Amino acid sequence: MAGQFVLNTGAKIPSVGLGTWQAEPGVVGDAVFAAVKAGYRHIDCSQAYDNEKEVGFALKKVFDEGIAKREDLFITSKLWNTNHAPEDVPVALEGTLKNLQTDYVDLYLIHWPVRMKKGAGFGPQNVIPSDIPATWTAMEKLYDAGKARAIGVSNFSSKKLADLLAVARVPPAVDQVECHPVWRQTKLREFCESKGIHLSAYSPLGSPGTGMVKPGAVLEHPVVVSAAEKLGKTPAQVALRWGIQMGHSVLPKSTNEERIKANLAVYDWSIPEDVFAKLSEIEQVKLIRAGFFVHPEGVFKSIEDLWDGEII
Ligand code: A2P
Repeated sequence: MAGQFVLNTGAKIPSVGLGTWQAEPGVVGDAVFAAVKAGYRHIDCSQAYDNEKEVGFALKKVFDEGIAKREDLFITSKLWNTNHAPEDVPVALEGTLKNLQTDYVDLYLIHWPVRMKKGAGFGPQNVIPSDIPATWTAMEKLYDAGKARAIGVSNFSSKKLADLLAVARVPPAVDQVECHPVWRQTKLREFCESKGIHLSAYSPLGSPGTGMVKPGAVLEHPVVVSAAEKLGKTPAQVALRWGIQMGHSVLPKSTNEERIKANLAVYDWSIPEDVFAKLSEIEQVKLIRAGFFVHPEGVFKSIEDLWDGEII
């Protein structure tokens, strides 16, 4: 498959990965199978998406039918917030490996810089003070053992990333964050570039299906739509190609076979400089704000607090 970036471990990460957040059980397996068949070599998972078992069945089918080999795929998963205690970290990864039917992941991320009580559900009352350095030490052990071929974080501001770098023995390879033309992550991107950390973009289409955000923020943005018309591409392809040209891997979620294929057709063309410049001038709005972790009397007292002010 065309298009990959190199991580600070030396491993290559394919620049388009299939997102599986909010890919419902019952359809996610078919989506993963269709994606690998279409040429995807990168699948983005998480314990929290509650569908890893089905992803695992699909991967087994992929291998059994000879569509791809395990070593051809780049599989990411994430440590959920309830498993930050160092002793829980290897147990959580074992559960994920069992569900995915593999004995290693290519990348394991701390899903949020937010710790929640063990076994607890969502709700700011379940957020407890985190100890990222201790959690990270446990992640480093998984890296040493080869169960996670690279380790990283997700939803970390540049401040939180800098704090982690100050104590890490193994520097994070990736920060996976919301990123698309409407939320470019200028500050974090510059910081990541300066430290050799790869920025991976979730919600690269602005997550129109989540119900959490205004659906057309990215795909119906007039600048994106006009770029698409000019280039004879879809708004989704423009948003994805923009991300790749920025140097990010992009993780579009789709469970629709046509859109899965279309989202990979971003390699044999590029966005010319003048159009790219217009896309890089779009007014910025962070769409995924994660207010569900925030409470005036909680660990994170405001959304600004959670993101260290790196938000509009
Ligand atoms: P579907 O799964 O029905 O294709 P994001 O990756 O930013 O979170 O966005 C995922 C959402 O965007 C899903 O609702 C998905 O729906 C939809 N989507 C995925 N690919 C495309 C596309 N090429 N055009 C329009 N919507 C898309």
